[in-house]
Amino acid sequence: MCGLFGTRGHPEVASSVIKGLQDLSYRGYDSWGIALQSGQELHVVRDIGLVPESPQLPTISSSLAIGHTRWSTHGEPTIANAHPHTSVDGKIAVVHNGIINNYQSLKDSLPHISFKSDTDTEVVAHLLDEACKGGLSLTEALRQVASRLSGRFALLVIDSRDDCLLAYRQGSPVVAGTDGTRQWIASDTFALSRCCEEGIYLEDEQLLVADATGMHLYNGSGESIPIHAEPISSQSSAHKKEGYDHFMRQEMDEQAAVIHRTTQAWDREQPLLPMPFVQNLKRIIILGCGTSWHAGLVAEYWLENLAKIPVEVEYASEFRYRDPLIYSNDCIIAISQSGETADTNAAVSVAKEKGATVIALCNTPGSTLTRMADTVCPTHAGMEIGVASTKAFTTQLTVLYQIALWLAERKNLLNSNSCDEKHLALRQVPEAVKKALKADSEIKAIAADYQHHNNALYLGRGLHFPIALEGALKLKEVSYVHAEGYPAAEMKHGPIALIDEEMPVVVIAIQDHTYEKVLANIAEIKARRGKVIAIGLAGDEHLRSQCDHMIAVPALPTELLPFVTVVPLQLLAYHIAVYRDCNIDKPRNLAKSVTVE
Ligand code: AGP
Repeated sequence: MCGLFGTRGHPEVASSVIKGLQDLSYRGYDSWGIALQSGQELHVVRDIGLVPESPQLPTISSSLAIGHTRWSTHGEPTIANAHPHTSVDGKIAVVHNGIINNYQSLKDSLPHISFKSDTDTEVVAHLLDEACKGGLSLTEALRQVASRLSGRFALLVIDSRDDCLLAYRQGSPVVAGTDGTRQWIASDTFALSRCCEEGIYLEDEQLLVADATGMHLYNGSGESIPIHAEPISSQSSAHKKEGYDHFMRQEMDEQAAVIHRTTQAWDREQPLLPMPFVQNLKRIIILGCGTSWHAGLVAEYWLENLAKIPVEVEYASEFRYRDPLIYSNDCIIAISQSGETADTNAAVSVAKEKGATVIALCNTPGSTLTRMADTVCPTHAGMEIGVASTKAFTTQLTVLYQIALWLAERKNLLNSNSCDEKHLALRQVPEAVKKALKADSEIKAIAADYQHHNNALYLGRGLHFPIALEGALKLKEVSYVHAEGYPAAEMKHGPIALIDEEMPVVVIAIQDHTYEKVLANIAEIKARRGKVIAIGLAGDEHLRSQCDHMIAVPALPTELLPFVTVVPLQLLAYHIAVYRDCNIDKPRNLAKSVTVE
C-alpha cells in the first residue's frame, strides 16, 4: 500500500510533495514523511497520522524532495517506522510502496548496521549506501540493489549529494511527468494530474532518473530505453465535499447521477469481445475483492439468467494461488474500483499467463488493471474518496448488467426489442435510487436505536444475498460493529444460535419467488426475540407487521432491485458510524486501495 510522491527542479518542492501525499492518502494514512534536499543535506520530517493540511517543515530552500503516506505492513505506525528511511549517515533517503519479501535475509547480511525501524524498507537505504561506497553511481546502485529484492515494490530514492530523483518499479505502480524543467513522480495519475498533462508509466524492472538534463528511462539490464508519455486526465476537481460532513454520504447521494452517466456512456454496439469468441464462450470467471467481489456475485445471477453462461465468482486472492484451470474459451471479468488492488492485479496476471481474455471493470483510467486488460469497461463513478465503497459499487452493477445484456443479445437469447426494454428499465434506476435515499431520516432514527449494539446479522436470498454481504461489510468498515452476511436459508444451519434480544437482524425481504421462505426466517428470528429490520418493497404492509422496523424501497423490475436494496444498508452503516463517532471516510486500519497482497 502506501503513496509515493517525489519532485525536483523547482522551489516549491515541499508544498508539491505535501499536496501529492494528500491526494495519495487513500492508499494509506497511518503516518507520513518527507525528505528535502538542501545544501548537501537531507532534512527529514515524519509523523504519525494523516498528512496535515499545513505541516511544520524546516524553512530551507530545496528543489528536490520525496514523500510518503503509509499503511503499515512491517512495524507499527510509529515515527521510527514512518518513511523516508535513510542510510546511517543520513545521505540517502528512500520511500517505498509494497513489500520486500526477503528483507530479513538482507538485513542479516548487514550485521554491522544497527537498524532504527521494524520496516522492510530501511534495508534498502543501507544497501544503497554500501553499493555507493563500493564505487557505484546511485543509479547503478539502485539497479543492482533492486535486483536483489524479491516481492512487489516501488521505490523513490534521493541522495543529499546528487540533484537527481530516482524511481524503480517492480509490481507496484509508478508514473512520472515533466513540464520540461520540473519533474514529478507519484504512485498514481490522480496525484500527478494537478502537476502535468502527460504521464510516463513505468513497467516492471524499469528505473527512471529525473535530473537537470531531463528524464531518462532504463530497463532491467541498465540499457537506456525510449520514453513514451500518455495524456492523463485532470481528476482533482472532483475532490471536494460539497456541503456534506463526509465524502461517504456525498457519494451515496451521487449514485443516481453516476449510474445515469454510466448508462449514457455505454455503447451497445461496442466490440466488447470478438464474435467468434462469444460463440465459443463456455465460462466467465469474475475476480475481485471486497465490495467489487460482491458486485461480481450479483452479476453471476444476471449473466447466468440472461446470457446463459456459467459463471464462477472468485476472491482474486484465492484464485491466483490455487493454480486455476483456465481454458482459451474462458473470459475473465476483473472488477476493481481503484485498478490498483494487488490481489486482483496478480490474479489477472495469472489468468493472462494462462491465455485468458480479460475484461476489466474499473473506475480509475490509466490504472494498472486497465493497462493489463484486453478490454476496459469504465465505471463512471468519478473519484470515490470514502474508503467504504458506495457509488463505485452501484456503477459496477450498472456495467455488469449491461455486459449481461450485451452477451444475451449477441447470443440471440434476447431479441433487440426485449433488449431495448431492459435498457429502458435500467434507465429507471437513478430515479429509484433517489427515492430510496429519501428514507435517510427514518434510517437515522433506526440507527439511533441500534448504535450501541456490537453485532448484527444481514440476511438475503438470491440477488440480495450479495447485498446482505455488502451491507454487513459497510457496517464493519465504518462503524467497527461485528456484522455477518448470510443467505437467509443458511441461518438455521448455525447463525440462529446467535439470536437473542440483543441481536439485530437486517433482512432483505423482496416479493419474489423466495418471499414466503424469507418471511418464515423472520418468524424464526422473532420467535427467538431477535430484532428484525426488514428491507421490503413500498406498500408491503404484511412485511411491516412482521418485523420491528421496515425500510421501504421503490419497485423496479425484480432483477434490478439490488440497486435499491443496497441503499438503505449504506445509509444504516453510515448513520450508526456517525453515532459511534467513527472516522467515516478514513476508517481505522483501512486504505482505499489495497496495494499489497
Ligand atoms: C469497500 O468498501 C472496501 N473498501 C473494499 O472491500 C474494496 O472494495 C476492496 O478493497 C477492493 O477494492 P477495488 O475495488 O479498488 O479493487
